[in-house]
Amino acid sequence: MDALHFIVCGSVDDGKPTLVGHLRQHGVGPAFESGMHEQGAAIDVVEHCFSASKRKFIAAEMPESERLLSVAVTADLAVLLVNARKGLLTQSKRQSRIVSMLGVRHVVLAVSMMDIIGWDEAAFSTIVADFQALVADLGFVSVQAIPMSALAGDNVVYRGEQAAWYTGPTLLDYLETVDVSTADGSRPFRMPVQYVDRTDPESPGYCGNIVSGHVAEGSLVRIVPGGAEARIKSIAAWQGEHEVAGGAVSITLDREVDIERGQVFSSVDDPLQLSDQFEASVLCLSGHHLVPGRPYLIKLHTAQVGVTITDIKFKLDIDQGSHLAANTLELNDIGEVTLYTSNPVAFEPYKQCKPLGAFILIDRMTGETVGVGIINFALRRASNIHWQAVDVNKAARAALKSQKPACIWFTGLSGSGKSTVANLLEKRLHAEGRHTYLLDGDNVRHGLCRDLGFTEADRVENIRRVAEAAKLMVDAGLIVIASFISPFRAEREFARSLFEPGEFCEVFVDAPIEECEKRDVKGLYAKARLGRIANFTGIDSSYECPDSPEVRLDTVMQKPEECVEQVMSVMSRMC
Ligand code: ADX
Repeated sequence: MDALHFIVCGSVDDGKPTLVGHLRQHGVGPAFESGMHEQGAAIDVVEHCFSASKRKFIAAEMPESERLLSVAVTADLAVLLVNARKGLLTQSKRQSRIVSMLGVRHVVLAVSMMDIIGWDEAAFSTIVADFQALVADLGFVSVQAIPMSALAGDNVVYRGEQAAWYTGPTLLDYLETVDVSTADGSRPFRMPVQYVDRTDPESPGYCGNIVSGHVAEGSLVRIVPGGAEARIKSIAAWQGEHEVAGGAVSITLDREVDIERGQVFSSVDDPLQLSDQFEASVLCLSGHHLVPGRPYLIKLHTAQVGVTITDIKFKLDIDQGSHLAANTLELNDIGEVTLYTSNPVAFEPYKQCKPLGAFILIDRMTGETVGVGIINFALRRASNIHWQAVDVNKAARAALKSQKPACIWFTGLSGSGKSTVANLLEKRLHAEGRHTYLLDGDNVRHGLCRDLGFTEADRVENIRRVAEAAKLMVDAGLIVIASFISPFRAEREFARSLFEPGEFCEVFVDAPIEECEKRDVKGLYAKARLGRIANFTGIDSSYECPDSPEVRLDTVMQKPEECVEQVMSVMSRMC
């Protein structure tokens, strides 16, 4: 039986629940299927099996968050509900752009609440004309406008008596007959590994969904990343077949290969590409905006790796579709960005293969889904810049200095005492004959970071640059002391991630804001209170305290010399 996957977008105001209710009621034996979503969240998928119809319907309401992706990836068609009384609102415009971005090519513009405006044909035509203008460049293959009353059910399942002027199909007629077929029968074989079944350690089963093409026992496959090749020994599929296209399978190979979740089985004739830099479109789902330079996790098919947005090329103006300059992406913004992943991942552009080109972005700290997106294409620059192997390495440089290099990272409010303690610490190490370098916020902002201010995006970039500089200095064999407010956990974790275990020491210089404000060595708190400095940490910009720093200094109770002793004793175990 041929199936139509569709999503219903709209809100309570547009009559969405009533419309969905009607569709459910009129299906023969409507069944709720609580499908398990990839991330483990349940999606309500409504299946309508019409005895009179040849078609099976799989519908989902446009979900708010990460579910969006897995639903939209499979959707052939979107029903976009618009309230006749209100016309096209920003929400409908946004939904149209999201649906288009996610590659849905067929749209039904369901103009609901027509009864409330007396089935006014002119009003309907205006909405349809507005919509046609809006979607002219969104690449939809078909757009069908239907005037309806979701409440009474006119033109949903049964033809309405009220609007003789409308001669088109009812929604249900349309869903039963619309042709959404695409001609991509000959796609190469791809199966992302979801799970490795080691019940039989001799012959592990690689389980996953075939997302394109087909495979048979005896076929030669390549595993990407890695590039190993092996023949398929057996395929266990739902239907128990030996040659399979689509669906969940468990595959065994003729030889031993080290394979884990996130790698993709692919045909050898047309193997998958691998990259770590991408051009992508992203929809921000988080109240905490997406900031370039900040480390996130990307979940692309079954792979999960670290990622940063290196650049926001532009964000879309929802009304006009024009490109706006942007430093960050805020909730509901759609932007075009470049991404840089921590490891190369197997992918295909979304246009070629939706399941291998769709991703979600996850906040590393909270696990919250902060964005969904699609890969437009890979930027191949990564493979052109190699890490130059050098003969004199970190160990050799450190040996010459007779020390173990390290990065001692001071974080805390302005005025907490970071610079004072950091300075004393460097003097002490220097006196002991250690090779050191002190990177201080106020100083690097005169050179390396001269172009940066104090917005969230600029602070993220400030810490990224400083952390990378500190890493080079540690590689040079130095003991680096970094002293920065570094107010956000994500960037401090990023800094930590650049170093080897035992090389990074986070020192939380803890003093209450009242105390720092009382000290106000530079007179900046006074200015900030008068509104003369914006985004001042602790006043109108946040400071996220470290959860488990290696050292916590209490600069109210302890003298600077005592603080240095405390840091030194922790360092003596490291350096
Ligand atoms: S960070 O947030 O990006 O880590 P950084 O440590 O480099 O900040 O710089 C902080 C120093 O800049 C402060 O010690 C203070 O002297 C100065 N400064 C100027 N404006 C601000 C501001 N809005 N917020 C915090 N510090 C500021």
